[in-house]
Amino acid sequence: MKKHTITMAAGMLVCMLLAGCSAKKGIDYLALVNKENALPADWEETVETVHMTNSLGDDVEVEKAAYDAYLKLKEDLEADGVYVDLDSARRSVEAQQEIVDSFTEKYGEDYVKRYVAVPGYSEHHTGLALDLYLVIDGRDVYLNEDMVEYPEIWAKIHEKLGKYGFILRYLEGKEAITGYSYEPWHIRYVNDPKIASEIMEKGITLEEYLDKLPQTDVAPPQD
Ligand code: DAL
Ligand code: ZN
Repeated sequence: MKKHTITMAAGMLVCMLLAGCSAKKGIDYLALVNKENALPADWEETVETVHMTNSLGDDVEVEKAAYDAYLKLKEDLEADGVYVDLDSARRSVEAQQEIVDSFTEKYGEDYVKRYVAVPGYSEHHTGLALDLYLVIDGRDVYLNEDMVEYPEIWAKIHEKLGKYGFILRYLEGKEAITGYSYEPWHIRYVNDPKIASEIMEKGITLEEYLDKLPQTDVAPPQD
């Protein structure tokens, strides 16, 4: 059993032993949602979210603790002259399908396979995945193809993620593990700054941290 699973189980046991303790359990901030793992079944009943409006006027829904941490990250970045906003965070299965459809039309099927999750299998369903966009000299830079033009700004952002409990989810060179191309804008809240900093310092994926690597098809022996 993984360390975080044991901690959660112990926490629930203590909770059950204490008189008057509410039965409501918290969410698992290390939940793995990827091409092989769908959104956990009980997620909808346990997640608490908040809504914000970004500079484009869009409503963005985010898991509560992730949003508080994001605001601290944003403030820290602003002190260094880096301005970000939230493009998208929690998405319903229907909203994910709309992205699949519009991106397929705009960028084609191959791009969608590399950058967009199948509805039901997006980390965005959790509310813990945040897509940032850049605000440069007052200009909103939110298209994927424009955002990748600013690696030095993303480096400044990525450097601060661990401190606020965030990790970079889709790393360059780890496409075979995550199943997705490099996305400098997609950050994932894992809550504990110690865990987040460890993941960021080691330059590993959430799959590697949780020791859940994808199963690869092994070619049958040739004779
Ligand atoms: N862009 C990520 C993979 C998603 O669609 O969830
Ligand atoms: Zn994303």
